[in-house]
Amino acid sequence: VFCEPVCANAGVIPPKPGFLELIRELTTRHGAGLVFDEVITGFRVARNCAQGRYGVLPDLTVVSKVLGGGYPVAAFGGSGEWMAPLARNEAFHAGVYSGNHGAMAAVVSMLTRVRDGADMYDRLDALGEYTETRLRAVFAEAGRPIWLGRVGSLLSVAMTTGAVPAERETEVGPAMTDFAAHRTLQQHCQRAGVYFHPDPHEPWFLSTKHTPEDIDKVCAMIASALSAMN
Ligand SMILES: Cc1ncc(COP(=O)(O)O)c(C=O)c1O
Repeated sequence: VFCEPVCANAGVIPPKPGFLELIRELTTRHGAGLVFDEVITGFRVARNCAQGRYGVLPDLTVVSKVLGGGYPVAAFGGSGEWMAPLARNEAFHAGVYSGNHGAMAAVVSMLTRVRDGADMYDRLDALGEYTETRLRAVFAEAGRPIWLGRVGSLLSVAMTTGAVPAERETEVGPAMTDFAAHRTLQQHCQRAGVYFHPDPHEPWFLSTKHTPEDIDKVCAMIASALSAMN
């Protein structure tokens, strides 16, 4: 079974409580492998990735993106049992850029920061919560319904065609996405100097460089774009 532990390629959809535990239990019971694609969530939703945040260990993990801090790199790893065929040369893994020195230097630098950044993830989580609160307020004040999904500093926000029931937001919100309205909003914001992806199901990624003041600026711009759209 391959999956993202937090869906981040269809808007941000956190796992329902017990979901990851259930697939772990079922795969173990039936002797199937469990692979987490942590390309987006790895080192982003927690220092020890989504599997650390939710306490569910897969057999194999794929990471990328944050791993290289902007350098093109990806990696995979897992239990001794799953990695052993590579060590025994029974499975082949190689490529022109495998272990590329420049990329590896970026990985060492990035992972050192991740390891030593004492309150880094608390700050990112707090900024994510602040961003969610501010975005919800801005859209509510403009009378525009949205669905918003968030895990820590990873979030997505999308305008919708109608009010979304709060308790089922990430279940029904995606199908209610108003792509045209969102695109108009995105264009307003881009012209005013704030770029986020035109596809509302592409997440926002907050970084350690972002501040609450940056979020305030973005929200002010969204507010003025929404009033121009009314
Ligand atoms: C969650 C996730 N998995 C896998 C990939 C694909 O990575 P690649 O283009 O290196 O195959 C992406 C690409 O953005 C991704 O977001």
